[in-house]
Amino acid sequence: MITTANKDFFTVMNERTSTRAYNSEKEITKEELDELLLAAGKAPSAWNLQHWKFLVFHGKDVQQRLYPIAYNQQQIVDASAVIAVLGDLEAEQNLEEVFGPLVEQGFMMPEAKERLAMNVAGAYKNTQYARDAAVCNASLAAMQFMLAAKAKGWDTCPIGGYNAQAFIEEFKVPSRYLPVMLITVGKATVPGHPSSRMELDKITEWVK
Ligand SMILES: Cc1cc2nc3c(=O)[nH]c(=O)nc-3n(C[C@H](O)[C@H](O)[C@H](O)COP(=O)(O)O)c2cc1C
Repeated sequence: MITTANKDFFTVMNERTSTRAYNSEKEITKEELDELLLAAGKAPSAWNLQHWKFLVFHGKDVQQRLYPIAYNQQQIVDASAVIAVLGDLEAEQNLEEVFGPLVEQGFMMPEAKERLAMNVAGAYKNTQYARDAAVCNASLAAMQFMLAAKAKGWDTCPIGGYNAQAFIEEFKVPSRYLPVMLITVGKATVPGHPSSRMELDKITEWVK
């Protein structure tokens, strides 16, 4: 059954905190995860190239394999699932899949698609751009996943504390993909510790 929380967006955003202590007995279904991953995939992306790939760790066996790679963070095994968000370093290869159907259905002129393809190909000659785009766009999907999870009554924690090279080797991640972050998802046993934020004045400058 899908959990619905029916909270407004700002309540969801304000209630999301990083959870490190999960109820290890609580299970999440594939359908519930699919719903959250679909929401994550609705994030915006440059040229709509959807520079993300989600590796789903759902089950104690696979989560246990991840545990030492994430420096033995207990949340990895106690969470109901862990999502590895990967960034696509070759997202230009998604162009046909994204824009081909639009041309076929008459929503886009073939010449417009060709122009777009040239621009994208130009950008992807720069490997630094490809890497920046992979991290930037995949991170938007990651954030969307965490907010969608909270809206559905789940707790999450983004994790950068893991050995990316060991992760690539253990799970045979193709060179096309760059690990961006892990996200644990489950039910908190204790509320995440309150976290402060810098004052708005400190993080904002109004350009004159
Ligand atoms: C990219 C990234 C990496 C993080 N890595 C870890 C981690 O390895 N372990 C952990 O417990 N929390 C990790 N966090 C969670 C942060 O500590 C947390 O977001 C921050 O303290 C603010 O707290 P809040 O999320 O509860 O608002 C990470 C957060 C981000 C965005």
